[in-house]
Amino acid sequence: MNTMSHKFVLALDEGTTSARAILFDSDLNIVNIGQYEFPQHYPQPGYVEHNPEEIWEAQMLAIKKAISKIDAKQIVAIGITNQRETTILWDAKSGKPVYNAIVWQDRRTSPITDWLKANYFKMIKDKTGLVPDPYFSASKIKWILDNVPNVREKAERGEIKFGTIDTYLIWRLTNGKAHVTDYSNASRTMLFNINKLEWDREILELLKIPESILPEVKPSSEIYGYSEALGNLIPISGDAGDQQAALFGQVAFNVGEIKATYGTGSFILMNIGNNPIRSENLLTTIAWGLEKNKVTYALEGSIFITGAAVQWFRDGLRAIDVSDEIEPLASSVEDNGGVYFVPAFVGLGAPYWDPYARGLIIGITRGTTKAHIARAILESIAYQTRDVIEVMQKESGISINSLKVDGGAAKDNLLMQFQADILGIKVIRPKVMETTSMGVAMLAGLGVGLWNSLEELRSIWKVDKEFIPSMSEEKRRALYSGWKEAVKRAMGWAKV
Ligand code: G3P
Repeated sequence: MNTMSHKFVLALDEGTTSARAILFDSDLNIVNIGQYEFPQHYPQPGYVEHNPEEIWEAQMLAIKKAISKIDAKQIVAIGITNQRETTILWDAKSGKPVYNAIVWQDRRTSPITDWLKANYFKMIKDKTGLVPDPYFSASKIKWILDNVPNVREKAERGEIKFGTIDTYLIWRLTNGKAHVTDYSNASRTMLFNINKLEWDREILELLKIPESILPEVKPSSEIYGYSEALGNLIPISGDAGDQQAALFGQVAFNVGEIKATYGTGSFILMNIGNNPIRSENLLTTIAWGLEKNKVTYALEGSIFITGAAVQWFRDGLRAIDVSDEIEPLASSVEDNGGVYFVPAFVGLGAPYWDPYARGLIIGITRGTTKAHIARAILESIAYQTRDVIEVMQKESGISINSLKVDGGAAKDNLLMQFQADILGIKVIRPKVMETTSMGVAMLAGLGVGLWNSLEELRSIWKVDKEFIPSMSEEKRRALYSGWKEAVKRAMGWAKV
């Protein structure tokens, strides 16, 4: 077979701690992966920054590694997916950032968002689907305009550009020819009206952000420009925030389809179709838009600590040497022995939103062993997922009959079986677990006509394993109510 005739799609996944590049063939098999970490900068407590140049260098190294075995001419499309919300402002002429990237985890802008929360909560929720919080880009942009000398004046003269990481990478790859983002990334800025699909003038005025710095918002799948950085011109034709890309990569194209990505924390997103249902306790966000002025929405619940609890068991307690040891240890006991672990290390996210909750282990007896605690840690990941999914079903009125999973902990069979048992629905693990990159590769391939329909993508996507619930209803109810009681006792603890 002549491999020179093969076509490839290159997915760039620029995450919070590393930049990755994954090369897919036209059957969506992974051909090669490049991954490079870049430094995290913490100039003050609560500040988290990245140096855009360091991101760019890591991204370029990752690309080189991923495409090392092929001719770049064989790449028919590039897709970009990214850590969302992270904010860069740069000089339109020189392309030089005026400040480091302010990362989504950065809390410095709490005073701005406290003020928004107190006075404009409803307006912001109605328009953007989000809750005023330092997490999103808006207050980070305002902070740079207000605090970095001369930047506001330059911005008002049209000499500054803003972008989330997707926008910045596309700008650099096209040598400054394209200043664009997609609907999914725009919806995380807290400046985008998700009903009208345009930048919101009222919020921009409130925060004194000049509209001229904002990128043009495009569908998640179309040609935005051509990469000049790889020697020849390659179309950049896919763009989506990483959690939305993962939903797409799980081929969750229908209303009610849902995915959980288990990382340090977990992100659960459900496709809610063309109606931006508002939720009390979850975010409404844009999943993707495949054509102009037509988008699919999602409900999103973020859980702060899931995989990080296993890391704590390993590094904080030194109970295991490597994370993989937790599964056999937890499997060595029949059940949790009445022990519950609530990993509220940094408060609790969705659906509790209690910054004062703190971690606890409860139900310990003389018979409790390290294995019971390991099991309680794994179980806490599944209980928290159920907490979010229950609220999603209740607030959307959409019933869910299976959950697709990805991310590190999705490899853990014990946990995935328990997840199915505690939810009472099927849990589906795909063959290719790199769903984030696969999702944006799909978007990029659609954008250049390598694939032509969602049905075609669905037929390429393969299941690795399905976990069918086998626990009795009575046991499920008893275990979950134990968890709810434990959570009640963890809440508000930092205020005691
Ligand atoms: O909203 C933040 C999220 O996009 C970050 O994802 O995978 O880079 O931690 P990740």
